[in-house]
Amino acid sequence: MTFVPFFDLKRQFRSLRDDILGELTAVCDSQSFILGPKVEMFEKAVSSICGDRHAVGMSSGTDAELALLMGLGVGPGDAIVTSPFTFFATAGCGARLGVKLVFVDIDRDTFNLSAKRLEEFFSTDCTFDERGLRTSDGLLVKAVIPVHLFGLCCAMDEILLICSRFRVPVIEDAAQAIGAEYPSSNGLKRAGGIGEFGFFSFYPTKNLGAFGDAGMALAKDSAMADRLKVIRNHGMEPKYCHDVVGGNFRLDALQAAVLLKKLPYLGAWSERRWEIAQHYRTEFGEFAPALQSPVEPFRESIGNRGHTYHQFVVRTAKRDELREHLRALGIGTEIYYPIPLHLQNCFAQMTAKPCPVSESAAREALALPIFPELTDAEVEIVAKGVGSFFKK
Ligand SMILES: Cc1ncc(COP(=O)(O)O)c(C=O)c1O
Repeated sequence: MTFVPFFDLKRQFRSLRDDILGELTAVCDSQSFILGPKVEMFEKAVSSICGDRHAVGMSSGTDAELALLMGLGVGPGDAIVTSPFTFFATAGCGARLGVKLVFVDIDRDTFNLSAKRLEEFFSTDCTFDERGLRTSDGLLVKAVIPVHLFGLCCAMDEILLICSRFRVPVIEDAAQAIGAEYPSSNGLKRAGGIGEFGFFSFYPTKNLGAFGDAGMALAKDSAMADRLKVIRNHGMEPKYCHDVVGGNFRLDALQAAVLLKKLPYLGAWSERRWEIAQHYRTEFGEFAPALQSPVEPFRESIGNRGHTYHQFVVRTAKRDELREHLRALGIGTEIYYPIPLHLQNCFAQMTAKPCPVSESAAREALALPIFPELTDAEVEIVAKGVGSFFKK
């Protein structure tokens, strides 16, 4: 039996080993580890791939989001709206700042925050006047965080329109979507550079992964970028003077050096992910509707650039049986996400609109192996393995 791993980081490292170790050695020789020129170079490079947003290197995607929320001044008495079908960090940052989370359900086809449900929440559950948008319990809605889940951008035109009507800032959680394009009504945009604020994660398994934790905060406005630079360094400006409380959210030079070396390959890696996805989609077509492949809503307008396939997530009512079938064949899979955030014990006090779509996604979603170094033979084994389940 050939084992097909869900993910294997060692393959990518093997192909870039000497180059990357050379870069790491150069940073070690410099003995300059905190921020510095490598971080600045990486910030510039990331800025240029997401619409010239100001990019501020952070110690993780989580810390980038936390710093953005701190920069917006959110705290007790405020509310933040997001999707319950995402990784914990999206909501955890707000909760740590004493904010109340409001979970609004997702769209069934895309797994992303539903613009329709968001509009319903704002227009029917909230009140809006010159002081801003307030929830029924009097909290000020300070941000909406749409998550570009699995590498596909949310319906940002609709979300931005709703949020601008109610004057609520939008922070794109682009942790999983670096490089994903979005055909907005104002032209082609890139994940993280569609709204006012955004952030990336460079967690090792992301499409662009560091050798540890790393992230990037993005802002349209230079004043916010300046604030973020102060916040990531304990709120210190100038040295040993603190007008605001910040944290240690700095990006390491070693991580920036790794990421700078990997960045030129990101386009080709995304293309390979797309190619694998198309293979699966073609093979799985005959099993619909029992098995649903991810949708590609922007395929007609922008082809393969609208989904970076951080994950290839299928849906089936027989998810657990399919997973067990693939496990017996030696094929790795993962469940993103088994418990939606509104059902997590630690968020019991938060507000959730009914989220039946997220709850069914949590029961039916299954992620299959997809990473650039997966061989054609392995892709075929996965495709045939899934097929043998539905042909039974
Ligand atoms: C959707 C989402 N948001 C936020 C994060 C947090 O990023 P990090 O792990 O870099 O802190 C992640 C990554 O794990 C994520 O997938």
